[in-house]
Amino acid sequence: MTDDHTHVQEFFAARAADWDSRFPDDGPAYRAAVAELGLRPGARVLDAGCGTGRALPALRDTVTSSGTVLGVDLTPAMLEAAVRAGRQSCGRLLLADVARLPVRAQTLDAVFGAGLISHLPDPAENLRELARVVRPGGLLALFHPIGRAALAARQGRQITPDDLRAEDNLRPLLAGSGWQMTSYVDEDARFLALAVRQG
Ligand SMILES: C[S@@+](CC[C@H](N)C(=O)[O-])C[C@H]1O[C@@H](n2cnc3c(N)ncnc32)[C@H](O)[C@@H]1O
Repeated sequence: MTDDHTHVQEFFAARAADWDSRFPDDGPAYRAAVAELGLRPGARVLDAGCGTGRALPALRDTVTSSGTVLGVDLTPAMLEAAVRAGRQSCGRLLLADVARLPVRAQTLDAVFGAGLISHLPDPAENLRELARVVRPGGLLALFHPIGRAALAARQGRQITPDDLRAEDNLRPLLAGSGWQMTSYVDEDARFLALAVRQG
C-alpha cells in the first residue's frame, strides 16, 4: 500500500456514508453515459473505481443477466456503502487497485470509469492496465457527472493547462496507454471521453 493509496482510502472513507445522498440527481446522467458505450446483452464490463456502485444498475440493465459486471474499488468503505445500497445484486464487487486488476488479459468488452482518472497516481500506467484487460476494439468511458469548468467553480479553483482531462492532454495520454480517443464532451452537465482499445 503506497501513500497515494492511503490518501485515496482516507479521502473516500470519510465521504462514503453520504456519497449517494450528496448527489441524488445523478442517476440519469450515469444511465446516459453507460448507454453511449453501446454495450450489448451478454457483454463483459468493468466499473473501475466503482465507489458506491452508482453506475452498476445501468451497466447490469444494459448487459442483462447474460452479461458480466465487475465493480472494482480501492476503498473498503465505498464498497461497503455499495453493499448497503444493494448494488452487489448488479455485479461482483472486488476490493482491488486498478493498477493491478485481478482480471485476465483481453477478457472484457468495456471499462467504465466515473470520477476515477484524477485520483490515479500514475494515469498512463493505470490506463495501460485497463487496456490490458479489454479486448482489441473494446471501449473505455471516462465519465464525470459534471464538466471540468463547473467542477472547478464548485471547488473554488481555476482549471490549469496541465489538467489531465483537458482534451489536448487526455488524447495523447490515452494514445500512449493503448487507447484511441473517439469522442470528447466537456459541458457543465457532464464530462465524457470515449476511447477504443487499439489492436
Ligand atoms: C470520485 S469517486 C467515484 C466513485 C464512483 N465511480 C461514482 O461515480 O460515484 C472515485 C473512486 O475511485 C476509487 N479509486 C481511486 N483510486 C483507485 C485505484 N487505484 N483503484 C481502484 N479504485 C480507486 C476511490 O476509492 C473512489 O471510490
